[in-house]
Amino acid sequence: MSRARAGVAGREIVVASDRAAVARLAADRFALAAQNAIAARGRFAVALAGGDTPRALYAELGRRTDIQWENVDLFWGDERAVPADHPDSNYNLAHTAFLASSPAQRARVHRMPADSTDLDEAALEYENELRQLLGTPPRLDLVLLGLGEDGHTLSLFPGQPAVAERARYVVATPAPRIAPRLTLTFAALDAAGAALFLVTGAAKAAILARVLAPPVGNEPLPAQQVVLRDGRVTWLVDRAARPTPA
Ligand code: 6PG
Repeated sequence: MSRARAGVAGREIVVASDRAAVARLAADRFALAAQNAIAARGRFAVALAGGDTPRALYAELGRRTDIQWENVDLFWGDERAVPADHPDSNYNLAHTAFLASSPAQRARVHRMPADSTDLDEAALEYENELRQLLGTPPRLDLVLLGLGEDGHTLSLFPGQPAVAERARYVVATPAPRIAPRLTLTFAALDAAGAALFLVTGAAKAAILARVLAPPVGNEPLPAQQVVLRDGRVTWLVDRAARPTPA
């Protein structure tokens, strides 16, 4: 399976002392990626991650003074089918953590319309927005990613058809928890310039060790299938999530 070439080549693993250190390092990587993209192309296109882990990073980004937010396009890697002001909304996480009350207010925000009554139509709408702004395939400079305890990333859950989707860049998908989702597909992720996983906490130690090891069997976990065409995948983890390298 072509995606079985799990992304070991071009992979970087950085272990920081704790969750706060991961957030600081991730903010440094975000700022550097933004400076490089803006210097090269005048704009920085980034997909934000959902879940709880990025909360500390978003607070750090709200304090940064070295990011030209007026030249930043903020997208989302995935979103839950809940209202934009719902506690489970990935947009709401970023909005409350830094978009509503920091210089990041100057960024162009492209919210995933997962609160639509027609998720398939919403997926197509977001895909068209990505393609209009970033080309085909849409080229994001950076995609922030989390890791679920079942090995999912974005809202690409093991066994779901969305994992194998290669034609579309955004799809609607069921999810085992919280709500149905909109998610980027691997077709969109592969075209990105860089992917940055943030994984913290002892609860993620087992799945992180499994995902960083060579795939077992012929079906890699979704998080093992993140292989960028011409970009680097970086795993930024804390010591609790990676006590000792295997
Ligand atoms: C989502 C996320 C998802 C998340 C992981 C980790 O919408 O749920 O995109 O992929 O990153 O589930 O979530 P935590 O950071 O909360 O552990």
